Amino acid sequence: MSGWRIKRFIRPPAGSRDMKLCVIGAGYVGLATAVMFGKLGHEVTVVDVVEPRVRTVNSGKSPFYEPPLEKELAKLVKRGMLKATTSASGAVKDAAAIFICVQTPPLPSGKIDIRPVKTACRDVGKLLRTADGYKVVVMKSTVVPGTTESMVLPLLEKYSGKKACEGFGLCMNPEFLQEGSAIKDSLEPARIVIGSMDKRSGDLLMKLHAPIKAAKIRTDLTSAEMIKYASNTFLATKISYANEMANMCYLFGIDSEPVLRAAGFDPRIGPLFLKPGLGYGGSCLPKDVNALKERARRAGYRSRLLTALDAINESQPGEAIRMLEDAAGPVRGKRIAVLGLAFKGGVDDTRETRAVPLISSLLAKGAHVVAFDPMATPNFIRLMPTIEYASSAAECLKGADGCIVQADWKEFRDLGRKEFSTMRVAILVDGRRSLDPAKVEAAGARYLGVGYGLARGKGR
Ligand SMILES: NC(=O)c1ccc[n+]([C@@H]2O[C@H](COP(=O)([O-])OP(=O)(O)OC[C@H]3O[C@@H](n4cnc5c(N)ncnc54)[C@H](O)[C@@H]3O)[C@@H](O)[C@H]2O)c1
Repeated sequence: MSGWRIKRFIRPPAGSRDMKLCVIGAGYVGLATAVMFGKLGHEVTVVDVVEPRVRTVNSGKSPFYEPPLEKELAKLVKRGMLKATTSASGAVKDAAAIFICVQTPPLPSGKIDIRPVKTACRDVGKLLRTADGYKVVVMKSTVVPGTTESMVLPLLEKYSGKKACEGFGLCMNPEFLQEGSAIKDSLEPARIVIGSMDKRSGDLLMKLHAPIKAAKIRTDLTSAEMIKYASNTFLATKISYANEMANMCYLFGIDSEPVLRAAGFDPRIGPLFLKPGLGYGGSCLPKDVNALKERARRAGYRSRLLTALDAINESQPGEAIRMLEDAAGPVRGKRIAVLGLAFKGGVDDTRETRAVPLISSLLAKGAHVVAFDPMATPNFIRLMPTIEYASSAAECLKGADGCIVQADWKEFRDLGRKEFSTMRVAILVDGRRSLDPAKVEAAGARYLGVGYGLARGKGR
């Protein structure tokens, strides 16, 4: 982010700063929200139930790998603009607005687990009972359409003993940040959505976001919830579309890269999220697709599109294995290197990472898997404790009969002859199309990018 922009953010217009704010949940969304408002000149208290997380934040460190966020967090903690605590009481009492940013993880049924939101609402509601003045509660956690009105609102009213719009305000302000660029996305969002029950609470959120230059959409609570799902399911659709096209290109003997790149020049299509790969993972897209599908089912609508997205995404890791086997024979009994275990490069988050289905399929086919990630290995070991782990990309490649790149870490782009020459069979399947094919081939390895046509003669 350029210097002038940062300066602009730390000197917000008069009247929009110096509020006390409370953020419930010190995760990606909670800390990005807290840092954003801290940079805008507000005093923020972050509440989390996990004591070590609170200590980490108070020492100016991020509990997860997100370097720009950590840098800003450290500055704000030092200036006394941001602190963390396990006790919500003081924080809620003093705050003009309370942002609920707790997790809503997926359940096996496809629904989301709403219990953390319920607990947070109960805790905030109880504290609102004795708090003075009009405070606005803001839902930032992703919840299916109708949740804020049918669950958050009654819980807050029950535990506070106050009526919404009279004793407190209620907003739904979905978050669109991407991990790996959390701070940039918070300070320079494509849009800000403010769903509110009443004008007064929506106006407060408008005032808080006033220094941020972005389209601001004011709407009702349920529409705000749906905007988040409409956005994320569209991104999942775009990725799955790219994967479908790439799978066909592979069989037609052509490379999907120029095909999709050319398609992306059309402003109606656009280039982003139009790259083939092993499918979408992370804490949002898979969960949001399933949760909306399930919410629609409960309303009597069976979404064929969302069902198809899930199916395409699940089969995509298998495409990389198929490419490897088409080129180098069955993986049974072979040593296969998997580079990248996080759900994408640049983060240590392994929630819904495609590395799990990828490695599970390789193991089911009888391969021996050796894996490496620059940051996510400790998190991944909890998901798959029994596979072999390497301590560097170079070590991972040593003696391998092939490699699949699962996450687009920058450092994998620097691999060259020195590392490839130690492989038993120097062949790389680039599951994210993030390496330079010419550079890989010049360094003596065979390059296969997902969606990179099967050699003509062998076509089906
Ligand atoms: N991670 C993302 O990229 C992202 C982006 C947009 C939206 N979202 C949505 O935002 C929400 C939060 O996601 P996240 O990734 O920040 O979650 P997270 O798991 O990283 O963090 C949630 C935090 O809330 C804390 N918490 C849980 N219950 C609490 C309570 N009662 N009181 C205080 N703290 C509590 C947890 O200990 C944890 O630290 C989810 O609904 C998610 O779908 C996430």
